[in-house]
Amino acid sequence: MAADVRRPRTVREAAPAKVNLFLHLVGRRPDGYHLLDGLVAFTAFGDRVEVTPADDLSIAVDGPFAAQVPADGSNLALKAAVALRDLGPSGEGAHIRLEKRVPVAAGLGGGSGDAAAVLRALTRLWRWPRDHDLHDLAASLGADVPMCLAGMPARIAGIGDRLSPCASFPSLPILLVNPGVPLGTPEVFRARKGDWRPALPAFATDDADGLLAALADTRNDLTDSARVLAPSVGTVLERLTAAPGCRLARMSGSGATCFGLFPDAGDATRAARRLRREQPGWWVAATRLR
Ligand code: C5P
Repeated sequence: MAADVRRPRTVREAAPAKVNLFLHLVGRRPDGYHLLDGLVAFTAFGDRVEVTPADDLSIAVDGPFAAQVPADGSNLALKAAVALRDLGPSGEGAHIRLEKRVPVAAGLGGGSGDAAAVLRALTRLWRWPRDHDLHDLAASLGADVPMCLAGMPARIAGIGDRLSPCASFPSLPILLVNPGVPLGTPEVFRARKGDWRPALPAFATDDADGLLAALADTRNDLTDSARVLAPSVGTVLERLTAAPGCRLARMSGSGATCFGLFPDAGDATRAARRLRREQPGWWVAATRLR
């Protein structure tokens, strides 16, 4: 018997956590959005999205951080699904299951990554052409959604929506540490003081030593304002900096998650074990850049 092409099936997509390896503020648009110069990468750790055919669009959230995510129309992943459906001809539905493993309002692009993963999953479920350009739709959902849709290491410009993908990138071990304090992105941007920087020239990202050397001259310009709003960011950074084998400790996005880059995966796991023991209230994940 020929396969039924309409047979219900499940499509799964990863929603990797995003880290801002550096984030410089280079200006401000009249609408208040900040112009950025930065480098983003993604980790092997992240949320998970699963979509199955249904008549309408709906979402259910589970996983360790589910309680902090709305499962209604205000959920960015569901908004992405609605926007995608409205763009297409057929008005199809789907049930979305989101496994929320990444802390919320944490500087790891969780909501944007979920929305991007839903766009990828639904275009597969609904059998849209693979080359359908979703950049503008992604950008309309949030400044970070296009980079999450691309899902690859990239230099970013504009408000974060202009991407120059990195040809190659080291799969460095990385430790993510969040002190359990949610930070609102608009508040952190608003609290930030200081001048604009000039954008940096492009630099090579292919090997770990070169990347770490180039990153040494960069920083995250939102760190000071995040530390004012959440002083525990400073404590996390101190602990990561002091961890044996940590070559770079920095905050991601608007915080409060910070990361440590460790060329040796064993050092990263040992640091994770120690931090979990000594700071049981912190969220700690040892993973890799992908
Ligand atoms: O685009 P998104 O909804 O993710 O942005 C959330 C908020 O973060 C914006 O309303 C703005 O206050 C701030 N933001 C910014 N500059 C950016 C990105 C975000 O000021 N490039």
